Amino acid sequence: MYKMELLYEGKAKKVYATDDPALLIVDYKDDATAFNGVKKGTIRGKGVINNRMSNRLMKRLEASGIPTHFVEELSERETLVKKVSIVPLEVIVRNISAGSFCKRYGVEEGIVFDEPTMEFSYKNDALNDPLICVPHILAMKLATREEIAQIERYALGVNEALREFWSGCGVTLVDFKLEFGRLPDGTIILADEISPDTCRLWDSATGKKLDKDRFRQDLGGVEDAYTEVMRRLTAHDHA
Ligand code: TMP
Ligand code: ASP
Repeated sequence: MYKMELLYEGKAKKVYATDDPALLIVDYKDDATAFNGVKKGTIRGKGVINNRMSNRLMKRLEASGIPTHFVEELSERETLVKKVSIVPLEVIVRNISAGSFCKRYGVEEGIVFDEPTMEFSYKNDALNDPLICVPHILAMKLATREEIAQIERYALGVNEALREFWSGCGVTLVDFKLEFGRLPDGTIILADEISPDTCRLWDSATGKKLDKDRFRQDLGGVEDAYTEVMRRLTAHDHA
């Protein structure tokens, strides 16, 4: 597989074309941003951890019936993925209150919900990824009613599978963000990444934050937290 021209450079990843028009190579960086790029930094070794973690989790999700873009891990930072056209929505599932939920509603962190919640943001940096409701997704033709229903089913399936997996690692899955894409035939599959950048992960015993909130909130020990969740995932995966 040949890595060809750089197609896109995002905040945490670079995307390259390959000699197969249906496949892309994603290259994970150590760069970290928060608050839509206002806060910038580096989390040493993050690219390697996010690449490996995302691939492991996507393999598990495939096994539980959720189609993903994952094809093959090529190196510690590079992965071959299916080319999709990204649905411009951030799909956020929450099990416990945190982050923008607490800010928006003025409630404390750590409220355990009776049922998971789901919300969508319109993926648009210039607008700061605003929250968007289903009627507006339809009005903006960002996705069809059928696609939204499929995305909701997959997102809840991802929550069930990941909650159970992380719980086996002694980690509580608080919330996460997913992105979906369309294959050329219109099939919806899970894309982007699943990592401590895109999930909130708390140590089940102590409540310690083991995710990007350590960077967002200047809590220190960012690299150690990423290393710790990866260690637990690897130990559990091999058990
Ligand atoms: P929020 O509470 O800030 O809305 O974040 C919800 C989840 O989405 C959390 O696990 C972090 C993740 N997330 C991203 O992956 N990318 C983003 O740009 C933001 C704002 C959140
Ligand atoms: N990805 C977001 C940013 O752009 C931030 C976050 O994850 O909080 O800066």
